[in-house]
Amino acid sequence: MHKNFKDILGMKGKEKITVLTGYDSTMVTLCDQVDVILVGDSAGMVMLGYENTSSVTMEDMIRFTTAAKNGRKNSLIVSDLPINSYNTKEDAVKNSMKLIEAGAGAVKLEGGKEVAEIIKSITENHIPVMGHLGLLPQTAQKYTVQGKTKDSAMELIEDAKIITKSGVFSIVLEMVSSQVAKIITEKISVPTIGIGSGKFCDGQVLVVHDMLGLFEKIKPKFAKRYLSLADEIRNAVKSYTIEVKEEKFPSIENEFQMDESEYNELRNEID
Ligand code: KIV
Repeated sequence: MHKNFKDILGMKGKEKITVLTGYDSTMVTLCDQVDVILVGDSAGMVMLGYENTSSVTMEDMIRFTTAAKNGRKNSLIVSDLPINSYNTKEDAVKNSMKLIEAGAGAVKLEGGKEVAEIIKSITENHIPVMGHLGLLPQTAQKYTVQGKTKDSAMELIEDAKIITKSGVFSIVLEMVSSQVAKIITEKISVPTIGIGSGKFCDGQVLVVHDMLGLFEKIKPKFAKRYLSLADEIRNAVKSYTIEVKEEKFPSIENEFQMDESEYNELRNEID
């Protein structure tokens, strides 16, 4: 049985929560030992080749959610509501339901007090919501650290309290200064999931393509690479290319043979 949002909620203060993004069944099958697979709208950049997340649509997110669900056995799937899919309560509920029908166990959306009522309307429809504070990629003009001044920190802490009251079961903190992430983690009852927000969060999330060294366009300081998969792939493609050009691949082990008597009959007929 796979995890649900209550399992994640219950981990606060007991066990660190692991989250990786996932957008296709093969990768999700390989990463399914983490607690949560986030079908993030970062898919726009790492899967669709866009510059940012602003062109990602509900259709894209439904497709990626279905693919992630097909590879998952253990983890909770949380899917991003893309930009402009939750501008009104009606849209937010309708689109959240679509992601749940596609296989998500919860949805995620970005923002603080300005989305408090939207969050409430989704949770009132029994759909678990993950919040997202700090750097908000759907609307950010620049990728800068959030909560570096007292006033901006106070605002983030207040936003975290407000959306917790609205019913989120956890909150992603993106590029929030480590001290402020620690305060938020201590002040709210639901788990914080950090990305570039230091070690005091209740859990951590990374984009899987960053973590595996697959995505080379951007290399954020916080995105630790555990592998250099891009190099591995390039080397494998180079070997394949050389072997095909030099007629070393396919070899006898990779081919299929006709029955010899059938072959001889065929030769007689066509020669
Ligand atoms: O879209 C995404 O992958 C995200 C994570 C970076 C938290 O929102």
